[in-house]
Amino acid sequence: MSSQVIAIDGPAGSGKSSVARALAATLGWSFLDTGAMYRAVTGEALRAGVDLFDEEAVGAFASDVTIVTLPRVSVNGRDVHDELRSDEVNHAVSIVAANPLVRAEMVRRQRDFAAGQPVGTVVEGRDITTVVFPNATVKVYLTASLEERARRRNDETEASVNRRDVADTTREASPLRRADDALVLDTTGRSVHDVVEEITQCLKLRTSS
Ligand code: DC
Repeated sequence: MSSQVIAIDGPAGSGKSSVARALAATLGWSFLDTGAMYRAVTGEALRAGVDLFDEEAVGAFASDVTIVTLPRVSVNGRDVHDELRSDEVNHAVSIVAANPLVRAEMVRRQRDFAAGQPVGTVVEGRDITTVVFPNATVKVYLTASLEERARRRNDETEASVNRRDVADTTREASPLRRADDALVLDTTGRSVHDVVEEITQCLKLRTSS
C-alpha cells in the first residue's frame, strides 16, 4: 500500500469525526467518514422501502448505490447530508451496519478510496483499526464519558447513544473493539487540537523509526 492510513475507531460522540477531519486538514491528507456511508445506505434504503431485515435485499441495494462523502454526502447524486442524523436513520443504522453483505461492500469501497489518495487518508469508524486497515500506520481508539458523548450529539439522548453503543459492540459482524496496538485516548474535557497534536506526534514517531 503506497498511500498511508491513520485509522480511528471509537463509540458515537467520542470525537472521531472532529478529530479525524482536523487531523486530515493538518496533514494535508484525505478524510473518510465511514459512518456516513452506513447512514447513507440506511437513509436511501428506508426511502426506497427496502425491508431492512432482509439481508440479501439490503446487501444488493448497498452494492448498487453510488455514495460520495465529500464535500457533502450524496447518494446516487442526491444530496442527503442533512438527513443522515435524523431519528429514523439513528434508529435504523445499527440494523444495516450489522449486515455482513453491506459491510463487505463498504469495506471494499473504503480500501479502494484510500488506495486512490495521493498521500494518505484519515479514516474513522468502528472496524477501521481491526478489519479495514489492520496495518494502518497509526491506529487510534477514542473514548469519552457517555455524558460528554451525548452532549456532543446535542440532538440525541444518552439512551439513544447508549443503544447504538450496545448494538455496535455486541453485533456478530465486525463489532467495535479496541485493537491491541491502538493508541487509546480519552477525549473527555480535551480539545480537538490537543488530541490531533498527540496523534501527529505518534505519526512522527512511527514514520521516523
Ligand atoms: O459514526 P456514526 O455514528 O455516524 O456511525 C453510524 C453507525 O454506523 C453506527 O451505528 C456504527 C456504524 N458504523 C459501523 O458499523 N462501522 C463503521 N466503520 C462506521 C460506522
